[in-house]
Amino acid sequence: MDELIEKAARIILESKLTIALTGAGISVESGIPDFRSKGGLWDRFDPEEYATIYAFTKTPEKVWLMLKEMEETVDNAKPNEAHIGLSELERLGLLQTVITQNIDNLHQEAGSRDVIEYHGNSRSLTCLRCNRKYDYKEKKGEYPPKCECGKILKPDVIFFGEAIPVKAMARSSQLASTCQALLIIGTSAVVSPFNILPRQAKQAGSKIIEINLEKTVLTGHITDIFLQGKASEQVSHVVSAVKELRDL
Ligand code: APR
Repeated sequence: MDELIEKAARIILESKLTIALTGAGISVESGIPDFRSKGGLWDRFDPEEYATIYAFTKTPEKVWLMLKEMEETVDNAKPNEAHIGLSELERLGLLQTVITQNIDNLHQEAGSRDVIEYHGNSRSLTCLRCNRKYDYKEKKGEYPPKCECGKILKPDVIFFGEAIPVKAMARSSQLASTCQALLIIGTSAVVSPFNILPRQAKQAGSKIIEINLEKTVLTGHITDIFLQGKASEQVSHVVSAVKELRDL
């Protein structure tokens, strides 16, 4: 067994409260491009023009061009071994909560029950004029989707410039400051306030296990164990090691 994988597995087995923080990188192997890697979404859509709440209120039709592309990619996506591995750890009682920046619902589809959607989700839409809510299935295939009042609907995802849902933020902060082990998977950790959570956990004495294709701003000073590689492979290795050591 790889030494780093074994160390990560032992940390998880000894921890009384473990959480996972995930970003777009965990879903890349499900066919959903991330944002900041080469060829990522922000290579094709300038976030200033497509991903701020200001852009949405000013040019909703334009923003829906990007949202439509994202929706079609997400619709075809299935959970990969990384999502499934985290739901397995939850089933074994070794992972309490996944706090995700992703809006693809793949953690839930993989079987994770305690998921905090830090940047909202794309399963429902809201009218910014009359506040009516719709399930995304009601408006499937309608681009841009419109409210009965005629206004173009906004998906319940958090755009830049919007506040993080209060409950998600409060519970995430509480978990980060009380966890003993934190897995952080597939995120560049450059977006605030999500990127405060690993620092909060570190300050509270938690062990930080980072899984990423490449080093990030966290590696080297926040991260205790850096498992470099694809999320599906590294998570699977950690879960197998946990099971092996647990049954010894
Ligand atoms: N396995 C592991 N890590 C991967 C993989 C993979 N297969 N593919 C990519 N990564 C890593 C990249 O190296 C990068 O560090 O995942 C990270 C993805 O970073 P971003 O594209 O910045 O995505 P994320 O961190 O989730 O962005 C945060 O920014 O644009 C906003 O709201 C959006 O929620 C998003 C937030």
